[in-house]
Amino acid sequence: MASISDHYAEADQAARAVDTAKDITLYGGRKAPLPLNVIIIGCGLGGLATAYALGKAGHRVRIIESAPKIGEVGAGIQVTPNLSRILIRWGLGEQLKNIAVLPEAIALRRYCTGELVGWTRWGVTMEEMYNSPYYHIHRADFHRLLLDLASTVSTLKLNSTVVKVNPSPPHPSVTLSTGEVLSADLIIGCDGVKSLVRDLVVGEPTKAVATGDAAYRAIIPTSEMMKDPALRELVESPEMTGWMGPGRHIMGYCIRAKREYNLVMAHPDDGSVESWTAEGSADKMRADFEGWEPRITKLLSMVPSTLKWKLMDRQPLTTWLHHEGRVVLLGDSCHPMLPYRAQGAAMAVEDAAVLGNLLSRLSHPAELTPLLRGYEVLRYHRTAETQKSSRLNQHIFHLPDGPAQQERDDSMRRAMETELARVSKQLHYRPWTTEEMTTALWDSVAEKQRQTSDFTGEGNSNQWADMRKNREQFGYDADLVSEKWWVENGERVCRQAVANSVSNVSARM
Ligand SMILES: Cc1cc2nc3c(=O)[nH]c(=O)nc-3n(C[C@H](O)[C@H](O)[C@H](O)COP(=O)(O)OP(=O)(O)OC[C@H]3O[C@@H](n4cnc5c(N)ncnc54)[C@H](O)[C@@H]3O)c2cc1C
Ligand SMILES: *[C@@H]1O[C@H](CO)[C@@H](O)[C@H](O)[C@H]1NC(C)=O
Ligand SMILES: *[C@@H]1O[C@H](CO)[C@@H](O)[C@H](O)[C@H]1NC(C)=O
Ligand SMILES: *[C@@H]1O[C@H](CO)[C@@H](O)[C@H](O)[C@H]1NC(C)=O
Repeated sequence: MASISDHYAEADQAARAVDTAKDITLYGGRKAPLPLNVIIIGCGLGGLATAYALGKAGHRVRIIESAPKIGEVGAGIQVTPNLSRILIRWGLGEQLKNIAVLPEAIALRRYCTGELVGWTRWGVTMEEMYNSPYYHIHRADFHRLLLDLASTVSTLKLNSTVVKVNPSPPHPSVTLSTGEVLSADLIIGCDGVKSLVRDLVVGEPTKAVATGDAAYRAIIPTSEMMKDPALRELVESPEMTGWMGPGRHIMGYCIRAKREYNLVMAHPDDGSVESWTAEGSADKMRADFEGWEPRITKLLSMVPSTLKWKLMDRQPLTTWLHHEGRVVLLGDSCHPMLPYRAQGAAMAVEDAAVLGNLLSRLSHPAELTPLLRGYEVLRYHRTAETQKSSRLNQHIFHLPDGPAQQERDDSMRRAMETELARVSKQLHYRPWTTEEMTTALWDSVAEKQRQTSDFTGEGNSNQWADMRKNREQFGYDADLVSEKWWVENGERVCRQAVANSVSNVSARM
């Protein structure tokens, strides 16, 4: 059985991002006339994406990370079309093709019988409609790609834990556990779900809310699965499969060019810790899913070890920006979410893309606060909505057997029948224009879409069959919304801020 690190070496080969990244220009070649010294706390996916986006915008960026070395922790991550759109723009198109898997569909099944109740075509449909693919990828591979990108425009200081942040101008700074003090013009807290920066920004301790769920994560080599005809099809036609049961669900999909099968198993929490790296007992895991369909039993018998992860949630924060304007939050530090819409990574990278785009315009110190507020305005609502729809899936997936569950399954079946009919008639969706994906009123888009199919799936229990939600989610273009904000608001607000600061200075003189 090949170890994960064997695969890692291969993935490295397939994905040399450094060379590609050198030639990429972002923001139409625009670089900030006023470059800042930026410190990013945390070298997760969010920190790396931010380093790249701000470095490309002309800023001088340092990343500070507490881990002594870059590990390869984690399992599957979903790269949805709104995220792949950014990554392709960043020059990673070829590398993604090599290391990622394109799921052909999402299949939702009953836990005990395996009966298919929901099915939505992904693969070609995603590219057809949103002009960007949906990928499944290993977090470690993704982390490596972003590290390659970030290293072209920033520096990384490992083995350095930030213990204190001084948010006050003129010299904001961070203090490391060694006592070393590093100052910067702008400090960005990309320090994850247990963020230290968050409480400082919000001004009071923020509480994590237990969701009542925990999740096991495990990876199975697909070479093992290929030996069993019943499991073989999970690899050969790679769908994302969700098994829904009372209080529990399992999501499974292929990663690493189909060499590994990733499992996330949500179940009632019985006292785990909020951690990405805590070991769980594989035997307890099997006991948790006793009585599930034979394929699950077989899959779980192949799991030698598992990671256990307590699922915490937080209400949207009151602010992401410290009131003195020099410390801002990004990624899981400001909007952690349940993984049930698989959006943690997508949201963090989108945050980074918006922040980089806006700060590529910085030409005067007085513009910094309005630009950071613009970032917050653009991202706050969307991430709060995503937190909500992730929570909705917790409810939908975990219904106990009974009338509500039957209603859910009937709703999903209706969407599936339409979808299967469409696929068998080889009807293709009409590609949406950028305008239709991002700005046009939904009603007019839906009207045109009905030329292909009457069914738009609005409100369906299978949230991936809902074309309106899909449009909002997958059509999002981080650069486009940033440019639009600038034209509609940003330029005016920034000009005003500069004028105020100039007149205040002259008034004082
Ligand atoms: C080890 C790990 C495994 C994960 N596995 C999965 C997975 O399998 N599937 C999935 O969907 N998502 C996973 N995630 C979550 C996913 O990566 C995030 O939801 C998403 O990428 C947004 O991340 P982020 O960059 O905001 O925060 P994170 O990815 O959590 O990164 C935060 C970083 O900040 C560092 N840090 C924290 N505090 C300090 C400090 N005081 N000083 C210096 N550095 C600090 C941490 O060491 C960490 O590297 C994982 C995250 C981690 C950290
Ligand atoms: C990390 O830093 C500590 C001091 O803070 C040091 O003792 C240790 O050797 C360092 N580890 C590595 C891997 O550099
Ligand atoms: C990106 O896609 C996900 C779904 O995959 C969605 O939840 C999210 O809202 C989308 N975009 C933005 C900006 O939030
Ligand atoms: C400048 O003065 C105006 C009006 O007196 C005030 O509203 C504004 O906040 C001041 N701006 C700065 C940057 O001090």
